[in-house]
Amino acid sequence: MRLTDCHNIDDFRALAKRRLPWPVFDYIDGAGDDEVTRRRNRAAFDDCDLVPRVLAGVENVDMSVTVMGRRMAMPLFLSPTALQRLFHWQGERAVVRAAERFGIYAGISSLATVSIAEVGAMTSAPKLFQLYVHKDEGLNAAMIDACKAAQFDALALTVDTIVGGNRERCLRSGFTSPPRFTARNALSYAAKPGWGLNYLFREPFSLPNLATHVAEGSSVPKSVADYFTTMLDQSLDWKRAEAIRKQWDGPFCLKGVMAVEDARRAVDIGATAIMVSNHGGRQLDGGRAPFDAIAEIADAVGGQIEIICDGGITRGTHVIKALSAGATACSGGRLYLYALAAAGQAGVERAVSLLEAELVRGMKLMGARSIADLSGDNLRWR
Ligand code: LAC
Repeated sequence: MRLTDCHNIDDFRALAKRRLPWPVFDYIDGAGDDEVTRRRNRAAFDDCDLVPRVLAGVENVDMSVTVMGRRMAMPLFLSPTALQRLFHWQGERAVVRAAERFGIYAGISSLATVSIAEVGAMTSAPKLFQLYVHKDEGLNAAMIDACKAAQFDALALTVDTIVGGNRERCLRSGFTSPPRFTARNALSYAAKPGWGLNYLFREPFSLPNLATHVAEGSSVPKSVADYFTTMLDQSLDWKRAEAIRKQWDGPFCLKGVMAVEDARRAVDIGATAIMVSNHGGRQLDGGRAPFDAIAEIADAVGGQIEIICDGGITRGTHVIKALSAGATACSGGRLYLYALAAAGQAGVERAVSLLEAELVRGMKLMGARSIADLSGDNLRWR
């Protein structure tokens, strides 16, 4: 199987599985508890059907949309995700370059493997930083200041990760950051020498945005779930979120809102956007899918705040459904991470390009010439 054999996200997933040691693959692929929510995120789109319109004159389709102050060429962007140089040696650099090529946001995690400053110096394309609020106040302030200096466009405050989720696949594999090679898992790494050579001989692993203040994650191995539970500030509340918005003083987003009442409060504290998200089902299992929540959130706060549907997207038609239900735009993590693991920048570019082509095709088949043509009239729930 080669990159050119990948025609959808499941194909990239299959290729990633062949290239990655299984503890690394399972870290990306896995989720919380029984992984019900992870599966639901995608299945939700199948419970809703599209109603196409015809004879609309669709030779030119404009899919551009403004998100947190930046115009994007299409209504889909790359969510922040952690540890990317563990998936492919090019890591965030590949993802940022691919996003730049398509004119869409790249998200950079606090747990990124490339520094905020380097990403800022690389590109003037849209950039979003995902903040995890740590107990170490100096670290929080340092990350926000670094984002200002690097001219990031937007800050996304993570609100669904007050403790780590129960990722049982990681418990079984012993996956940590940085990876710890044990008698139990050594074979799985030895079985993928291509990955191992890159890990051993390229730039040493670290989490540069955190390593200035904490050793955990960079030189002291910890599971990601354990990192969250022990390092993050569980007292985080609305007052603090509002204070962080003021401190950042730019386009501000809450990442991980699922309830209508919380969407209203996000408007009250002056947030620019919410990412309707359950962290890819990696945190609370048993929660509903982002797509299922979009219509009622849009009813309550549409027009007052941007609504990003984050989770389960593997098709252009999923984006069309979410926007028809009232989302401003969509985003996803695994949708480009499998491709990154499979083939670095070329992989991410192929994944985004396939989704872009699906979006254009879907818009035309829906008889939609611009995003403004998408509305609830296009949808029927079963
Ligand atoms: C995770 C974090 C790092 O879900 O986003 O693993």
